[in-house]
Amino acid sequence: MVKVIAFNGSPRKDGNTSILIGHMFEELENEGIETELIQVGGKNVRGCTACMECFENKDGHCILDDDIVNHCIDAMVEADGVILGSPVYFLDVTAEMKGLIERAGFVSMANGGGLYRRKVGTAVTAVRRAGGVRTLDSMLHFLLATGMIVPGFPVLGVGREIGDVNKDEEGLARARDAGKNMAWLLKMMEKAKGSQHL
Ligand SMILES: Cc1cc2nc3c(=O)[nH]c(=O)nc-3n(C[C@H](O)[C@H](O)[C@H](O)COP(=O)(O)O)c2cc1C
Repeated sequence: MVKVIAFNGSPRKDGNTSILIGHMFEELENEGIETELIQVGGKNVRGCTACMECFENKDGHCILDDDIVNHCIDAMVEADGVILGSPVYFLDVTAEMKGLIERAGFVSMANGGGLYRRKVGTAVTAVRRAGGVRTLDSMLHFLLATGMIVPGFPVLGVGREIGDVNKDEEGLARARDAGKNMAWLLKMMEKAKGSQHL
C-alpha cells in the first residue's frame, strides 16, 4: 500500500501544524493512501555533532541512537511520501525539525545520497505573522536536496492559539490541495511502476 509519513515539529502536538497535517491526511486517505504521523516537536532531538561516523558506518543510521531520529529515517525510507511540518519559531523551523533535517540529511549523503530519492515530499507550516515562507524554504531545501519530488507549492496556515488555523480558510484550502496533489502524483507513480516501459 502507498504510504505517506508526516513529521510534526511543533511541541504542541495537537496544535495548528497538526491540524493542517490532518487536512492533508484526509485527502490522502480519501485516495486510499495510508498515513502516519510521527511527533518530533517536544522530543529530545539533538543536532548533528559532525562526528562523521555515518560516513564510516554507511548503515543508513545516525550514531546518536538515544532519540527518535533513526526511527524517523527508517520511516522515511519505508514511505512513498514525506510531509515535513513545523510552526514558525523565530522566523524558521523549530529546533527539533532542524535536528531531524541535519541528521536525516547527512545520513542520506553518507549512504550515497539516495535514501529518500524520488519520494514525493512537501512541507507545511503554521505562522502567526512573519517567517512563513522562510520556514517552508528550510524544509523544502531538505526535500529537494535529498532528491524528493515536490508537487506544487507547500502549505502555509495562519494562526497563533491552538485551533486558530481553522479560521484561515485559504490555509485549509491549501492543505487540502497539497494533499490532493500529493495523492495524484503518488498514484501516477504507482501506475508507472507497474508499466512495462519503466
Ligand atoms: C518560541 C516561539 C517562536 C515563535 N516565532 C514566531 C515567528 O517568528 N513568527 C511568527 O509569525 N510566529 C511565531 N510564533 C507563533 C507560532 O508560529 C504560531 O503560534 C503557530 O500557530 C504555532 O503552531 P503550532 O500550534 O503547530 O505549534 C512563535 C511561537 C513560539 C512559541
